[in-house]
Amino acid sequence: MRTSPTAALLFAGSLLLPSAAHAAEPATPLRLEIDLAAPGKAISPDLVGVFFEDLNYAADGGLYAELIQNRSFEYTATAQADWGPFFGWDLVKTAGGDGHLGLGDYRPLHRHNPHYLLLTVLAPGTGVGIANRGFDQIRVEAGRSYAASFWAYQPFNGIKWSGGATIDQSKTMPVTLQLQAKDGTVLAEAPLEVTGRAWTKYAATLTPQRADPEARFVLLAHAQGGLALDMVSLFPANTFKGRANGLRRDLAETIADLQPKFLRFPGGCLVHGSGAHDFYNWKETVGPVEQRRAKRNLWGYYQTFGLGYFEFFQFCEDIGAKPLPVVSAGVCCQHAGDSPGRGQEGLPLDEMPAYIQDILDLIEWANGPADSKWGAIRAAAGHPDPFGLKYLGVGNEDAITPEFRERFRMIFDVLQAKHPEIVIVGTSGPFATGEDFDHGWAFARELELPLVDEHYYVSPQWFWDNLARYENYDRKGAKVYVGEYAAHDTDKTRSTLRSALAEAAGLTSFERNGDVVQFASYAPLLARRGHTQWHPDLIYFDATSVYPTLNYEVQRLFGTNSGDTLLPASLAGVPTGVRLTSSVVRDSASGDVIVKVVNGEERGFSATLALAGPAASKYRLTATVLTGANADVANEDGQPPAAVPVVTASEVGASFTREFPTNSLTVLRLRRRE
Ligand code: AHR
Repeated sequence: MRTSPTAALLFAGSLLLPSAAHAAEPATPLRLEIDLAAPGKAISPDLVGVFFEDLNYAADGGLYAELIQNRSFEYTATAQADWGPFFGWDLVKTAGGDGHLGLGDYRPLHRHNPHYLLLTVLAPGTGVGIANRGFDQIRVEAGRSYAASFWAYQPFNGIKWSGGATIDQSKTMPVTLQLQAKDGTVLAEAPLEVTGRAWTKYAATLTPQRADPEARFVLLAHAQGGLALDMVSLFPANTFKGRANGLRRDLAETIADLQPKFLRFPGGCLVHGSGAHDFYNWKETVGPVEQRRAKRNLWGYYQTFGLGYFEFFQFCEDIGAKPLPVVSAGVCCQHAGDSPGRGQEGLPLDEMPAYIQDILDLIEWANGPADSKWGAIRAAAGHPDPFGLKYLGVGNEDAITPEFRERFRMIFDVLQAKHPEIVIVGTSGPFATGEDFDHGWAFARELELPLVDEHYYVSPQWFWDNLARYENYDRKGAKVYVGEYAAHDTDKTRSTLRSALAEAAGLTSFERNGDVVQFASYAPLLARRGHTQWHPDLIYFDATSVYPTLNYEVQRLFGTNSGDTLLPASLAGVPTGVRLTSSVVRDSASGDVIVKVVNGEERGFSATLALAGPAASKYRLTATVLTGANADVANEDGQPPAAVPVVTASEVGASFTREFPTNSLTVLRLRRRE
C-alpha cells in the first residue's frame, strides 16, 4: 500500500495560502520575464535520476520482493553477533512430532551457496518442519497468489540416527507448504513430495483467502527421515511488471513515479565493501539465484544478491532509466572495515589486470552480442538484446591518494582503449569542498574525464547559500553528476519541508546550470523502518506500507517536469539574501514552458509572469504547489500527509500575477492554447 497522491485534495481545503496581511509584499510584485524568442540554452534532459544502494534494507527486505529472510541459511555472526545460519527460522513440531535442525556444507547446491539446512524427522506427528516470519513480518493479501519454492534432496540412507530404525529411502518424503496466520490458522497450503538424492527445485502456488499482515511461512515434513533444504523462498506473484524473481510492486512503482532518467547502483560505499578483497562482485550477482553468493554487507546485514545486476538493468529498462553502474576504482573506502580514518587499501597491483577484466566483462555482459561469452549469460537470463550501457562510474567518494590515482588510471586507460563509447564517471571525494574534492577535480582535468561525481550532505541553508555554485564551472571541462545529495535539517531523522525546499532550490540551480550539471540523484533512496542505518532517506517503508517524504515530492515534481532548454528568465527584484529562487525550462516534446519557483521564506511573495516574444494570447496553466503549515512539518508514517502537492488548472494570458506562498515549491506548466 502506498500513500495516494489523491490525498492532496483532502488537504487542499486547509492549504495555507498567504493572505495579503501575512505576506508583507514589496511595493510592486516581483517580475519574471520569459523571453520565448530567445534560443535558450540546451540543458541535460536527464537531470533527475535515482541512486539505489542496498543500505537500510533497501534490497533484501525492501525492493527485492522475496518474503523469506535468510532463505539460503548463509547468515553468520560476521554481520551481527547473534546471527547464524538458522536466523529467522524456527523449528516446528506439531502434535506428537519430534525432530531437529542441522547445518550441512558437504553437498552444497552450488559452491557459491555453501550451507543448507538438514531437517531430521524422528517422529512425524502431524508434521515437523521449519517456519519463517520474513523480515519482521510477512504480509499476505487475500486472493493474491504467492510462489513458494525450495530446493531439496533426501539426505539419509539406511540407519541414520541413534538406536534407529532403518529408513527406506525409496519412499518419498511428503511435505506440506503453508501460509499461516499469526494465530496459527492455515491460510493456504500445498502438498508436495520430495524424492531422491539429487538437489531438485520444488514449487507450489499458495493463495490465501484471508489477509494477514503478520503471517508466517511453514514447511512441514510428514515422515520419519530427513530433508536437505536450501533456497526456501516465497514471492508474491504480484511483483512489479509481474516479473519472476521480481521487485516489490509498491516500492518499484513509487520509484517509477519519479520518472527517473537514470539509475545509479549498487552504491555508494557498498561498491568498495569493507576491504580491498571485499569489492562488490557483479559476476556473483547474475545467473540463477541459487548460484549467487549471499554475503554480509558493510551496512551490517546480509545481501542475497537476488536483486543483482540483471534485475537492476531490467528495472532500468522497465522504468525508462539509463543504467549507471559503479565499480570500485581498485581501492576500498578510506573508512572501510576496522581501519580508522584514512584506511584506504589498494588492490595488489598484480591483481589489477584480473579486476580490470571483470569490468570489461561487465561491459560485454551488458552490451555484447548474445553469442559473446558474457552476452550469452545475459541472453540465458532472458535478455538477448544488449542493455545499451553508456555510463560507468569508477570509484565512490575515494580519498584521492597515490594508490587511488594509480589504479584509477590503469582502469581508465584500458577502458578508453577498448571502450571509448563508455562515458566514465570519476569521483571527487565525499564532500562539496576540501582536499579530496580539489584533488579529484584536478585529476579529472588531467585525465580529461567526461563526468565527475560530487557528493554533499549539508544543511538546508547551505543549498540556499550555494545557488551560484555551478555558474563558474568550466563549460569546456567535465560535466557534473551530483550523485549523492540531501539537505540534513537539525533533526536528521525528520525529512522536513525546510529540507525539501532547500533541495528544490538546489535543483533549480542544477537546471539553470543544466549545461554543466548532467545528472543529480538524492541519497539515500530507500529505508526500511526499524532497519535504517542512515537518516534521512527519500522513501521509508515497512512490510505493509510506503511512506514517501516531502523530499520525495520535490524529486517527483522535478522528475516529471523536466525540460531540455533553459529559457533566459530570472526573478527580478528579489532582495539579497532572500530565500526565493526560480528556473524556467522548455520541454521540446510537449512544447510546454515550465516555471519553478521555490520560496523558503516565512512570508509569501507575489510576482508577475510575463511571456514575451512569440507568446500566445492564452495558455493552459497547470499549477502544482507544495507547501505546509510551517517549515518543520514532515510527513509522518501512517498519518495524513502534512503537506502534499496540490494541483489546479486554469487559463491565463501572456501576463499574469501569481502568489508564491510561504515555504513553498510552485511548478507552473504552461501550454499554448491560442
Ligand atoms: O548514501 C549513503 C552513503 O553516503 C553512501 O554509501 C556513500 O557514498 C556516502 O558516504
